[in-house]
Amino acid sequence: MENKNYLFTDFDKLIFGGDYNPEQWRATPEIWDEDMRLMKLAHWNEATVGVFSWAELEPQEGVYDFSVPDAIFEKAEKNGLKIILATPSGAKPRWMAEKYPEVLRVSEDRHRELYGKRHNHCFTSPVYREKIAEMNRRLAKRYSHSPALLCWHISNEVNGECHCEYCRAAFIEFLRKKYDNDIEKLNHQWWTRFWSHRYDNFEQVEPPSSKGETLVHGLTLDWRRFVTAQTMDFMNHEIAAVKTYSDKPITTNLMGFFTGIDYRELAKTVDFVSWDNYPNWELTYGDVGQASWIGMTHDCMRSLKRKNFLLMESTPSHVNWKDINKLYRPGKMRIASLQAIAHGSDSVQYFQWRKSRGSSEKMHGAVVDHYGKEDTRVFREVAELGAELEKISCVAGSEVVSKAAILYDWDTVWALQELQGMQKQHKRYGEATHLHYGAFHRRGINVDLIGRKDSYEGYDLIVAPMMYLCEESTAEKLAKYVENGGTLVATYAMAQANENDLCHLGGWPCGVLMDVFGLRAEELDTLYPEESIKINAFGAEYLAKDYCEVLKVKDAEVIATYGSDFYKDLPAATVKQYGKGKAYYIAFRDKNGEFTDKLIGDIAKELSLPTAIAGKPIPKGVTAKVRENGEEKYLFLLNFSGKEQDMELDGEYTVITTGEKINAVHLEINGGVVLKK
Ligand code: GAL
Repeated sequence: MENKNYLFTDFDKLIFGGDYNPEQWRATPEIWDEDMRLMKLAHWNEATVGVFSWAELEPQEGVYDFSVPDAIFEKAEKNGLKIILATPSGAKPRWMAEKYPEVLRVSEDRHRELYGKRHNHCFTSPVYREKIAEMNRRLAKRYSHSPALLCWHISNEVNGECHCEYCRAAFIEFLRKKYDNDIEKLNHQWWTRFWSHRYDNFEQVEPPSSKGETLVHGLTLDWRRFVTAQTMDFMNHEIAAVKTYSDKPITTNLMGFFTGIDYRELAKTVDFVSWDNYPNWELTYGDVGQASWIGMTHDCMRSLKRKNFLLMESTPSHVNWKDINKLYRPGKMRIASLQAIAHGSDSVQYFQWRKSRGSSEKMHGAVVDHYGKEDTRVFREVAELGAELEKISCVAGSEVVSKAAILYDWDTVWALQELQGMQKQHKRYGEATHLHYGAFHRRGINVDLIGRKDSYEGYDLIVAPMMYLCEESTAEKLAKYVENGGTLVATYAMAQANENDLCHLGGWPCGVLMDVFGLRAEELDTLYPEESIKINAFGAEYLAKDYCEVLKVKDAEVIATYGSDFYKDLPAATVKQYGKGKAYYIAFRDKNGEFTDKLIGDIAKELSLPTAIAGKPIPKGVTAKVRENGEEKYLFLLNFSGKEQDMELDGEYTVITTGEKINAVHLEINGGVVLKK
């Protein structure tokens, strides 16, 4: 196991399992034995236990009852099942809210919530922290020596914010630290002389509220950072309690591009990332479809720690919380699961094992339906996938190696969300990111989604779409990257504001970047949704939509010009040699991605970025991804195109499951294959 990057020291297979809630079946424990029988049939090797079990574990304050997890651990040990043990902080018991109302969250309009639902505790409350620490210590002490324990799952989809007095006080402390206890520093960075909003002292600061302040952008941005920091503080508090008795790895399940918390920061609290994936297969994003969007999300999750991750949740068939809860068509769950692995997951895990009988998730897809037996389509597909994952388990611990990266920052998400201007409601930063991502995805080129403050080492190409928020230090870091031979592609709205959303004086892109790109952007035009602008480039005509900047080019080469409106014939895209590298600037939003695809394609060729299948075309809608481990290369081909596909390969490969040697592949609709070279 030495040369592979396994997430665990004591497990070297792909994990196949998911959320298991035995406490719901406490009155009928014979079901637990049936679960063990069925899990074996489904090839499950893991169960995630305890996610919402606090009221079972501590039915009254200080009275603990571990009989359910005791029984499940015992059965797991007997059956060779691994347990991912969750801490139960995602939902509190009723007695706690009754006795200590401070654990209930206060909403942004300053109302304390009643008991109900989940994910609704105050993360600052000393009582809540004390109670969860005690619980975690007890869980860790009791189960840390079980051979079944694989790792810890802290809370569940941690999210949300609280506006109580504890949280307000913590926010003020956070600001005091950040601004050196100098209110004038805060006033300057938040630009509070605007509308007479100056603060005389830190005590006057209130978290943003629809009843009060929402338009001081420095405040709203710092509040989001505080929520991230306080969530991390809460996580660290939970983790420290677990670590008192257990040294097993720690994770928590994230939600992809969830905007409430800076996941790049949050990821620092855990040993590896896991996430919950519930695609809308019916939606498409450009010509590359939903699979490409999901691929980008997997890549973002992997890049948070530049390390493999777990797919902690996905549905085996359908969800219950969307407006339309359509069944996955036969084969879809399989290729969606393989897609996660292709992008760096070392697991396929579901929500949920067994459908609950009542309450809001009783109609959510599950491996075992209310029917209760194994002769269903869903069970069959799950069991078949489980058997397949056992055969391709050699993939576990291999890596996705990327020579290209896209910059994606939660700071920019938040700043653009609040920004009054451009298209006020929808800046579509995610779409802008995906427009560039698609060019890599279509070619089977591995790409990471990293933050501006991450290391740029190892990347030959960095793309910075719509990077509105960029401080001088990042500008200098980008300049160094290009100077030393890197290729940088940036777009409109590049580096307009500093880290506190103060606009850079002297124009944009800020500071040294004007020299790097050889230009200054003078105006940014926002178009109505139905409008488009012609673009002339590469001897062809393309279209721009949404945003067009008017550039003042100094010493860059113009590679595209506008073909209509008052900026007709003016530069629309440029390139400049800077030091040993090149800096491209795209001044407009590409309407259908064709210009971007051509440009990124050309750059990738020039830089010889490795593609999944060298020199062979990848049909539209087919995902081609490579994982490798130094000795072997694993090629995933997954057909999301809705049509049958035939593909030639760049040499001979082995089908891992059958041992067959092949040079070409036929893919059924929703078909997929994992090959080895
Ligand atoms: C997740 C959550 C699970 C379950 C699932 C349903 O967001 O973590 O507990 O509710 O959604 O799709």
